[in-house]
Amino acid sequence: MSQPHARLLNALIQEYRQAFPQSEAAHERATRVLVDGISHGARTHKPFPLRIRAAQGAYVTEVGGRHLLDYWQGHYANILGHNPPEVTQGLAAMLQEGYGLQTGLPEEREAEYAELLAQATGADQVRLTTSGTLATMYALMIARAHTGRKRVLKVGGGWHGANPLALKGVAHNDSGYDRIDSAGISSSADEEILVTRFNDVEALERAFARQGDQIAAFIFEPCPSIAGFIPASPAYMQAARRLTAQHGALLILDEVITGFRYCASGVQRLYGVQADMTTYGKVIGGGMPIAAVAGRADLLALISEGASPRVWFNGGTYSAHPLSVLGGLLMLRYLVEHEAQVYPALAAQGERLRRGIQEAMAAEGVAARCTGGGNAAVRGGSLSTVYFPLQEDLAPQGPEDLHDPSLCDVTLAERVLKVGLLLNGVNVVHGLGALSMAHTEADLERTWAAFGALAQRIRAGA
Ligand SMILES: Cc1ncc(COP(=O)(O)O)c(C=O)c1O
Repeated sequence: MSQPHARLLNALIQEYRQAFPQSEAAHERATRVLVDGISHGARTHKPFPLRIRAAQGAYVTEVGGRHLLDYWQGHYANILGHNPPEVTQGLAAMLQEGYGLQTGLPEEREAEYAELLAQATGADQVRLTTSGTLATMYALMIARAHTGRKRVLKVGGGWHGANPLALKGVAHNDSGYDRIDSAGISSSADEEILVTRFNDVEALERAFARQGDQIAAFIFEPCPSIAGFIPASPAYMQAARRLTAQHGALLILDEVITGFRYCASGVQRLYGVQADMTTYGKVIGGGMPIAAVAGRADLLALISEGASPRVWFNGGTYSAHPLSVLGGLLMLRYLVEHEAQVYPALAAQGERLRRGIQEAMAAEGVAARCTGGGNAAVRGGSLSTVYFPLQEDLAPQGPEDLHDPSLCDVTLAERVLKVGLLLNGVNVVHGLGALSMAHTEADLERTWAAFGALAQRIRAGA
């Protein structure tokens, strides 16, 4: 870390401690019993995360009572903002009627929910589960069973949850994205999981030329979060579809983030591509835990009771939980019915937000850039990150460019922005995050002011 950044970060951390003493005390208590004080690695940062007691619309309320403008929005799930009445009123009414917790019997609305999801995404069949991690794991198990092959191809930096079949090349190291990330997974994982470079058609062609006859599936996020949601180029998406088909492998698109984020379907619709299987989560639950594997009937048939051999995608005490199904149904219905308003509004606001951040920082002499601007297939959307290129003409294509400290100032993007913006009342993740329909023009102005104020400190180095 450079000298001025270290000085600034130290100063910001001290101010942060003074500003949020209740959160610090709550964190100390939590760490006594919860490992690292949290239940998800992305919910903490140094010196301690803010603990929340309420959330509404674009804002969360910290235990000390301060309202913070939030761009994390439930791990990017809350496209209408926190606790939107479109969902909560229905859930409250359900509980009021004395129904809503798990029963263990098939739920009345489950088929309607699955019909809506299948219709909107072009899938033949759907199976519901509780998390994106499980959805990607099951999709890969189906692919391995269908093809009789073991190898899984993924992109460096790609995150499919802590699914042991794809837990390689998630974290960046000195040689890029090429290591097993977790202890405790099968020793064969290193050779079974192959990692290629996002948005690099030639690397993809080489991977299939080398081992195409052993690859069960190529799985990737169309706009990887680690890549600041830079979308796959149309050429990359087409190559993925063509090469998987040519080599008898399956194309699995992990749309846990992108599903219903860019349009009322998978973002693949905007590319004119249909994956063999797609995983959905986040937005499709309306803030409740639900996820799905959706895809070709002949593939999903492998999980059916009569299948032989059969993929045991078969558990889940809380799968298709009544409140989750209703929450998801209300959200999907809303998004399908309001598609023409929601997505253009988010895209336009996203564009303004990004431009305003860049301008606010440039006005103070800090060269910041925002990802999320889209390409020929995907118009700019509501997901972005902020990065600080060390070279004027850097045009990042994937995670390697954004996370290489010789190309971008990673400390500024990850650490200084996080603490510095919280002090200015704005919560970001990886420099920015997700806009929701609840963010107003006044919220954008507040954001620009917060970035501008922090840029002054960055320039001053203290
Ligand atoms: C692209 C992607 N796939 C899968 C997952 C895992 O989903 P979950 O956290 O619901 O298990 C995530 C979560 O962040 C994700 O971003």
